[in-house]
Amino acid sequence: MKVANSVTDFAALRAELDGTGERIVYVPTMGALHAGHRSLIALAKSLGSRVVISIFVNPLQFGPGEDYARYPRPLEEDLEICRLEGVDLVLVPTVAELYPAGRQVTVHAGPMGQLWEGRARPGHFDGVLTVVLKLLHVVRPHIAIFGQKDAQQLACIQRMVLDLNLDVTVLGGSTLREPDGLAMSSRNVFLSAAERVTATALSRSLAQAATQTSVPAARAVASAVLDQVRDDPGFELDYATLVHPTTFVEVSDDYHGDAVFIVAARVGMTRLIDNAPMTFPAPLPVAEPVPV
Ligand code: PAJ
Repeated sequence: MKVANSVTDFAALRAELDGTGERIVYVPTMGALHAGHRSLIALAKSLGSRVVISIFVNPLQFGPGEDYARYPRPLEEDLEICRLEGVDLVLVPTVAELYPAGRQVTVHAGPMGQLWEGRARPGHFDGVLTVVLKLLHVVRPHIAIFGQKDAQQLACIQRMVLDLNLDVTVLGGSTLREPDGLAMSSRNVFLSAAERVTATALSRSLAQAATQTSVPAARAVASAVLDQVRDDPGFELDYATLVHPTTFVEVSDDYHGDAVFIVAARVGMTRLIDNAPMTFPAPLPVAEPVPV
């Protein structure tokens, strides 16, 4: 495994692969790698001949007062995980190199970047798309893998690939969960034991919603689960709703088709998000009575 601590070093290693016919699969991360990241790396290994990971805590996607400074950065452990998972190339760029003094140009995520996570974290998706576009230019992968765990992020990235004609195939990897259902996240380390229990309300609400076949029923059962923790002072629900899978616009009660149930809450000091894809089949047409 080769580790490049700068974009320049990485570019030299990447150039060696040009013209070799190797299929390069890329998993961007902010480090603090857990089993969820590892599942994306395993998916990458199954799809390509060279796996590239980047580890970069991107300041541009954190708002003022968010956890940029305290975001976990266990680089040595992360590199060990990459070695164990058979990663070929790791890019660990510096902030100064990716964001040189005087920079001005950024990517704007558009209206879908202002909804939900974008409303709670103004500028977040602009920051994500800007760094992802830069990293895609540096890594030049054939395939890039992102987690469905961050469904709105994945949808914004897929929109950027379409709108900016990027020459990369974006794939979503399914969400890995703890045995109690909590979606794995680098931020779970911030939760106390009691908060961990409260946090399972998010995944439980999704599991209940997924048993329903209509939008109002899905909303109702999810809401009943979340009511169980609503009085908990350490729990503050931001949103729990159904949205269209590509635009993230909220769907109406009579909606049929694919949707995503998205939920976000603050648990203690930690903001958690989770989601589940759902399908609401169109009702079968009612047969006209046959005249006898
Ligand atoms: P990070 O939070 O480190 O996540 C890296 C990738 O792992 C993302 O695509 C995320 O959706 C995925 N992931 C996180 N938890 C997961 C889980 N439990 N199961 C499966 N996949 C999971 O997301 C980012 O970094 C950044 O925004 C980034 C895309 C790297 C841009 O800075």
